[in-house]
Amino acid sequence: MQHIKPIAPERLADFLRAMPKAELHIHIEGSLEPELIFALAGRNGVALPYADVEALRAAYAFSNLQSFLDIYYAGASVLLKEQDFYDMARTYLRRAAADNVVHAEIFFDPQTHTARGVAMDTVINGLHRACVDAQTESGISAALILCFLRHLSEEDAFATLEQALPHRDKFIGVGLDSSELGHPPEKFSRVFARCRELGFHRVAHAGEEGPPSYIWSALDVLQVERIDHGVQCVQDALLMQRLARERIPLTVCPLSNQKLRVFPNLADHNLGRLLDAGLVATVNSDDPAYFGGYINTNFVQTFAATGLTLQHAYALARNSFEASFCGPDRKSGFRDQLDQLLEAYQ
Ligand code: ADE
Ligand code: ZN
Repeated sequence: MQHIKPIAPERLADFLRAMPKAELHIHIEGSLEPELIFALAGRNGVALPYADVEALRAAYAFSNLQSFLDIYYAGASVLLKEQDFYDMARTYLRRAAADNVVHAEIFFDPQTHTARGVAMDTVINGLHRACVDAQTESGISAALILCFLRHLSEEDAFATLEQALPHRDKFIGVGLDSSELGHPPEKFSRVFARCRELGFHRVAHAGEEGPPSYIWSALDVLQVERIDHGVQCVQDALLMQRLARERIPLTVCPLSNQKLRVFPNLADHNLGRLLDAGLVATVNSDDPAYFGGYINTNFVQTFAATGLTLQHAYALARNSFEASFCGPDRKSGFRDQLDQLLEAYQ
């Protein structure tokens, strides 16, 4: 690897903000800011159990993953029309472009919406149109990944896949999210096998709160190409070696981990340890409206808290391109952009 000279903390923060990056772990429903939740509730005549934006924001104090998910699913209840899904995704993509995100792979949770009577067409058409328009507006590329909710049954996941298949050209892959503990990857072995046959990319949340064995089974049973979170892999030396050897990316979300108390403090985060062990770790925002910041805030705060260096910043941006499902030409264009910026800081 090329030698990169360290720079002063303020310049490093500038570099982190300016560097081109891909965001690979963002739940679009987790980008709904309280202001937009209230605007959509007003537009759609949905009653909310909070008096105003401040009262809703004040409820964002979480003790673990489940305490967050309860409020996150409630927030999504204001999404009813295609335009609502469009506005949500368009707002996120403008915000991401402002953070110099050049490519985003966006999770969506269709079961959260279809269970309330919203049609799959409404969800996918709104999100997809936003991705197309964002690329025209700012050049950012965006692709959708359909996530199955792991607290529901595999049968429900199969029914969701069937409903989505008429739109198969509008999403590139499938993922697995929601309550991790007690819902191991094996529960979804058949539906992921079917998705593999259909040619979809596959990712899964594993090792956020759950044990290393969930990461092993996401790899061996679901045959995923990336692990979302994965920070619990440090408990298992053999697993760390495998992730490094096979260059299986981890989409790490530091502020999420802090807010959901996966680590007591941001300073205790293991991102540096993952990078120094040669893992293809990336930085992402997960649910930025709930966890206190978009991708650049994740970068800047994590670097300030843990003392990571310019060398780590460069590795994280390179990893984000490598880990993405972009074609080789686009990846090499992103790497050239990054190298040009690095030269200006050396
Ligand atoms: N859905 C939205 N954010 C999530 C997270 N961090 N883990 C699992 N499911 C989620
Ligand atoms: Zn997530």
